[in-house]
Amino acid sequence: METVDDSVWVSLVPGPPQFESRKMMSVYSKFLRELQTSRRRWLVSGAAGFIGTHLVETLLNLGQEVVGIDNLSAGGKANLEAVLTRVSPDHKSKFEFYEMDISDIEKCRRHCEGIQYVLHQAALTSVPRSIKEPFLAHRCNVEGFLKLALAAQESGVEAFVYASSASVYGQGQGSPLSEEAPLMPASPYGTTKWIDEIYAQRLGQESPMRFFGLRYFNVIGPGQDATASYAAVVPRWIHALVRNERTEIFGDGETTRDFCDVEDVVQANLLAAVTPTGSVEICNIGSGLGTRLVELHETIVRLLKEDGIVCPPNAPRFGPFRAGDVDRSVADISKAIKILGYAPEVSLEVSLKRVIRHALGKGWPE
Ligand SMILES: NC(=O)c1ccc[n+]([C@@H]2O[C@H](COP(=O)([O-])OP(=O)(O)OC[C@H]3O[C@@H](n4cnc5c(N)ncnc54)[C@H](O)[C@@H]3O)[C@@H](O)[C@H]2O)c1
Repeated sequence: METVDDSVWVSLVPGPPQFESRKMMSVYSKFLRELQTSRRRWLVSGAAGFIGTHLVETLLNLGQEVVGIDNLSAGGKANLEAVLTRVSPDHKSKFEFYEMDISDIEKCRRHCEGIQYVLHQAALTSVPRSIKEPFLAHRCNVEGFLKLALAAQESGVEAFVYASSASVYGQGQGSPLSEEAPLMPASPYGTTKWIDEIYAQRLGQESPMRFFGLRYFNVIGPGQDATASYAAVVPRWIHALVRNERTEIFGDGETTRDFCDVEDVVQANLLAAVTPTGSVEICNIGSGLGTRLVELHETIVRLLKEDGIVCPPNAPRFGPFRAGDVDRSVADISKAIKILGYAPEVSLEVSLKRVIRHALGKGWPE
């Protein structure tokens, strides 16, 4: 993916008709063309993580200057090294990486100097771990957020785009979820993300730096860690199935999620950074479509079969719901469409095919 033009994006996203038509009128494709001719300086926190690496790669391929920071507690340097093998030497030279913790405000200040946009992804991301270690979740997700946001504000950053989460809504809030739904997080993780939004609300009134919170739903894509103890469902199942191991569904399988491709999350971040909006905004970011876990499982098994992988004959094992899980979580994305021109471009089927291709060692999806 050397350069990004319309034809590249078209080849990335064969999918159902709603995705095809959205793509044709994409505000994003116009924005990408513009960005290629104007170099800006971006800071990505959590740069070595799943979403962070995709942000870094897209920005570098657009000829942008990128500063990545990460304490490597979850993400690995190898992820970034892999990114750098996929970008041209010229683009690679525009990347700086600093291993650091966002709780170090002096380092946050140093690396925010000269930055126009911060894309803040660093966090302790696991719901079960936040239940076990709520102080750690608070230190990383709230104190870390505050330190990086204050450092960015002092340095004159234009926009601070940060990863919030659908977990701020909690249980039983109806579906699809609009940004106006009451917030009742069911875990310390969701609570920390809500506190971040409250800080953004407060700080955004005090300076010209815009705050934009993106409430991601379930993000999927190549490079998501399947071996982490709290791995997300898609990489965990694919990892198990290709090894002929039995999968487990927490709950009765009717649990419904909104799975969104990581390229669409990258799109949302870039649009949120540059679109002139109010000083404090929050948007849901998902596909807008609900998928039941049993359906997801069947689709993965079918796609693996198409790729020549024979899955274990046993049906998945159904286990108890995990603490902090919610049974239905689907995004109403009309606000993001309206204020950002956000248009999800990658269907679930295409997204899963790309994850599978990568998991089978068939290369990084074009
Ligand atoms: N992946 C999803 O489905 C999803 C859904 C909702 C919200 N989010 C949010 O999106 C963001 C990115 O998620 P991800 O899936 O890429 O997770 P990830 O765990 O792959 O990446 C997070 C990165 O942050 C780094 N990090 C953690 N604590 C840090 C600290 N104190 N200082 C510096 N770096 C630190 C980790 O080493 C890791 O590389 C997170 O804020 C997460 O809460 C993700």
